[in-house]
Amino acid sequence: MHPDLPLVLGIETSCDETGVGIVRGSSLLADAVASSVDAHARFGGVVPEVASRAHLEAMVPTIHRALDEAGVRLSDVDAIAVTAGPGLAGALLVGVAAAKAYALALDKPLYGVNHLASHIAVDTLEHGPLPEPCIALLVSGGHSSLLLVESVTDGITSLGATIDDAAGEAFDKVARLLGLPFPGGPYIDRAAREGDPAAVLFPRGLTGPRDAPYDFSFSGLKTAVARWVEARRRNGTAVPVADVAASFQEAVADVLTAKAVKACRASGVDTLLIGGGVAANSRLRELAEQRCADAGLRLRAPRASLCTDNGAMVAALGSLLVADGIAPSALGIPADSSMAVTEVRF
Ligand code: KG4
Ligand code: ZN
Repeated sequence: MHPDLPLVLGIETSCDETGVGIVRGSSLLADAVASSVDAHARFGGVVPEVASRAHLEAMVPTIHRALDEAGVRLSDVDAIAVTAGPGLAGALLVGVAAAKAYALALDKPLYGVNHLASHIAVDTLEHGPLPEPCIALLVSGGHSSLLLVESVTDGITSLGATIDDAAGEAFDKVARLLGLPFPGGPYIDRAAREGDPAAVLFPRGLTGPRDAPYDFSFSGLKTAVARWVEARRRNGTAVPVADVAASFQEAVADVLTAKAVKACRASGVDTLLIGGGVAANSRLRELAEQRCADAGLRLRAPRASLCTDNGAMVAALGSLLVADGIAPSALGIPADSSMAVTEVRF
């Protein structure tokens, strides 16, 4: 680690995770996360107002935990990065307000960054500089996108996105249907290990010859699973949870990886990066690995704990912006709940 590289603190509050990460250059020094997930579990989804309050309570303690973990003081920090969007408006506001306060008090530059670009940038902490251009498959609770990344700090183009539910949303809804806890992704992943992915052939949305090649649709799949499960319950037959979980997961992983590999081939790009919470899924990772190897592509996948929301990803993108000499954001920047994926920063 080079002691002269800038020390960047990143704050993430777009959903239910209060994340504070600290990086020096591309070295990860601390990744402190406080989650309010337990407070939302009984509602079966994130309750925005509950999330905002939890961020408010967790913010300062999480900052201090990250500083302790990194063995640095606030006065050592050279720049503050914060998720400015997209996400829940009230939740984002807590992080943005905190970041502005720290930037002002410490007299350090502020970088308001895009949550989705941060999901891509985080991989540099684990696997070094990003080969650019690359294709990024970004799959989370709120988003499912295929992106052409010519520069993670300054050149992200959207090739396609979901036209209805996000991939993570489909995992969460199907889990609920199967009586599994919230958030459902990790529970489906676990249940699927005991199941047969070929037990039920669920539909692969938007994969017809005339369909948009890089868009996704998961609501038909969700409905198909619901119908299948309801039919069983109506007959009084037991629902084979592991088989349904494995078959559903297979349908999602199949469509995501097939479209991502197709996008790489069509763009003449040799690296696929997967990121976002759903990229923690073991079957998605395995199938992506296999299909990339078959197609002669390199796969970059951050470890599972860096795929789900955290502050390290925000610090990582902040650090890349600083390294590229990009001007900091104004202290008056808003929190933008619908910040476009192509807008890397304010
Ligand atoms: O990126 P993330 O932490 O938050 C958003 O930006 O949305 O993603 C959360 C989503 C949830 O829908 C969760 O169920 C899903 O990621 N997820 C998974 C797994 N771990 C988290 N989905 C499938 N398999 C997993 N292992
Ligand atoms: Zn996310």
